[in-house]
Amino acid sequence: MATIKSGIPGLDTLFEPNEFPKGRQILVTGPPGSGKTVFGLQFLLNGALHYEEPGIFVSFDDLPRHIRADMFSFGWNIQQLEKEFNPPLITLVDGFSARVGLTTDEKYIIRANVDSLLLVLTEILDETGATRVCIDSLSTLSTIIKDPVQVRKEILTMGAILGEQGCTTLLTAETLARGVEEYSSQGLIRLSYDELSTGEFRRAILVQKMRGFAHEFSWKEFRITADGIKIFPERTVGRGHFK
Ligand SMILES: Nc1ncnc2c1ncn2[C@@H]1O[C@H](COP(=O)(O)OP(=O)(O)OP(=O)(O)O)[C@@H](O)[C@H]1O
Ligand SMILES: [Mg+2]
Repeated sequence: MATIKSGIPGLDTLFEPNEFPKGRQILVTGPPGSGKTVFGLQFLLNGALHYEEPGIFVSFDDLPRHIRADMFSFGWNIQQLEKEFNPPLITLVDGFSARVGLTTDEKYIIRANVDSLLLVLTEILDETGATRVCIDSLSTLSTIIKDPVQVRKEILTMGAILGEQGCTTLLTAETLARGVEEYSSQGLIRLSYDELSTGEFRRAILVQKMRGFAHEFSWKEFRITADGIKIFPERTVGRGHFK
């Protein structure tokens, strides 16, 4: 099985080869604020910076300039990776503005009709040789396409095309939003949080499914620190509290 280094501390050890599956389409689900967007971007940024794997981030949930600013709070300079390398190490795609009727001066835009998603992705793949992609989020994409049959078709087509090119793709989704579990991806990683009796919250991650890989099958604690996500594989948590 082909593997890569994810670049997210603690994540790779959850898989038996101690590395992350390559060239697969993996769902990352979780409730609001569980860390899906940070997870996706940390995966892309580390791939670009440390493993010669340029990335594409398609934002349906927020403006690209908000994403750049939010990630700067971790010290991650997306703009530098977009502008100071040729081809760029990171490409942000604006799937937000057209959807809410805003004008945008972003270079890559997904119009309200989603036919353009695959076209835009293939264009950027050709230009940049990207091998990591994150679509944030599938929940929003499926409200744009509306017809669930077409959503499934788009996802399968996208998975096939990106997988063929050796791209590892993360699709974020809110937990169980519009039957996300139906979108039969090759893997499913869940992020969640739980309230302790002290009133503190604790975050946890579960690899629920990964075709072709032996993996840990219990909730592991993770934190979002000033440096981003850090997983503690030695800390199994919860007794079925995570939803
Ligand atoms: N600079 C930072 N340092 C530490 N923690 C941070 C920092 N920035 C954000 N966080 C934490 O990360 C959380 C946001 O995570 P993220 O945006 O990835 O969640 P999400 O699952 O994508 O949410 P949504 O479903 O709303 O899109 C914040 O609520 C906050 O707890
Ligand atoms: Mg998000």
